[in-house]
Amino acid sequence: MLNDDSKYFSLSGDMPIGGPTTWHVTDWDQRRIISVTMDGDRYSSELPLSVYRIYVSDNGEIITKFTDAKDDQTSYVHYLSLRDVVLPDGVRTIRRDELEELDRLGPDTDLIAYPPCANESAKKVVFKYYFLWQYAPMFWKEMNLWMRLPRHPNIAPFDSVVIDELEGRIIGFVVDYIPGGNLEENTSRVFKLDWLRQLIRAVDDLNLRYGISHQDIAPRNLLVDESTDSIMLCDFNYAARMKRPTQDESESYIKERNDVKGVVFTAYEIITRDDSLRMKPHEEQILESVEQIKWEKHPAVKLDYPVEAYREVLREWQKKRKAADLTNGDTSKWIHWPPRPKPPKKTIQTTDMLGNPTSFTIDEWSERRQDVLARGGKVLNWERPPQQRLLDEGIRVLATGEIINC
Ligand SMILES: Nc1ncnc2c1ncn2[C@@H]1O[C@H](COP(=O)(O)OP(=O)(O)O)[C@@H](O)[C@H]1O
Ligand SMILES: [Mg+2]
Repeated sequence: MLNDDSKYFSLSGDMPIGGPTTWHVTDWDQRRIISVTMDGDRYSSELPLSVYRIYVSDNGEIITKFTDAKDDQTSYVHYLSLRDVVLPDGVRTIRRDELEELDRLGPDTDLIAYPPCANESAKKVVFKYYFLWQYAPMFWKEMNLWMRLPRHPNIAPFDSVVIDELEGRIIGFVVDYIPGGNLEENTSRVFKLDWLRQLIRAVDDLNLRYGISHQDIAPRNLLVDESTDSIMLCDFNYAARMKRPTQDESESYIKERNDVKGVVFTAYEIITRDDSLRMKPHEEQILESVEQIKWEKHPAVKLDYPVEAYREVLREWQKKRKAADLTNGDTSKWIHWPPRPKPPKKTIQTTDMLGNPTSFTIDEWSERRQDVLARGGKVLNWERPPQQRLLDEGIRVLATGEIINC
């Protein structure tokens, strides 16, 4: 279930001097955007979908509900067509309306079962997607990287690329679901020394064999496949190629975020439950400082070896990595993918400083939904009922947001 603190988010707004303020609020739960004009900070999931803007009084009461499409700030995203993207051999596609939503794990991340209504016999996967155009570059990177990674015993397996049901455009991807919760939320398990060794192997393979730096190794991105007793890495949002042909705004290889450091800090954090070092900016997280301090095991943490054994494994590994990082190694298996294909272009007519007519052309990654609808275009719907209603009333929905009766 989405946690309350991450339900709402605002990418933009209007703050004229003297007010009132209007925020364009993203509701990750219902995947919709509503503009809130207010002096306070209220927003209600009870509002019908026909309301695009509300005006709230000082004491939090809604003074006006605006239902005119001109107040609709929702964007239409230009998703890439399957025709413009070459999927590697063996990568399958699945339509969004072939997925049933089971839970909302985080912004743009849902637990899914397919086929819908199959209950116990359905396959469970995690659906990562984007419905705001600003996330397109990061999505392009994460999908391209993950779908090219060869199967690895310690990386959540890629399942399929997800396309929309309107025009077959790429809107997301699904990876196998690893039940049991991540290592940050589920701290009841024994943190096995062997899991640390497996994590080290996954990081070595990513860095040295595939040329990928994960850059977000942390307990919240580690799962455990209990059927094989394996630690599983997920979330390539921050990942980057260690050498890449082009500059892309979503992908930067940052040495201060390197995965060796990520693993050492993760082990420290799991064993001691002290996250104060991790809270610091990456450049202030100094590897040597965590190596020099005593690692006091938290009384509630369960290990299958003494703390010193974990530290010894880390020390040995770091020695090996220092040597490996100095050689160029074999880069023949390094993963690459093409730059993001360009969207349609749009020409904007304007005037220059002298008042003469001029025009310029931009890539049109997004448009206002109302403008697309006004010219008879199709817009993919992302809106869905609030999760609380689904739970209270036992309602089931597809990943499209559509209610289904099984
Ligand atoms: N394949 C998976 N199996 C089980 N849980 C997952 C899986 N992928 C993600 N999760 C859960 O969802 C959370 C958010 O997913 P993640 O990919 O890390 O997204 P974000 O980029 O928002 O951090 C993770 O911390 C994890 O708990
Ligand atoms: Mg994550």
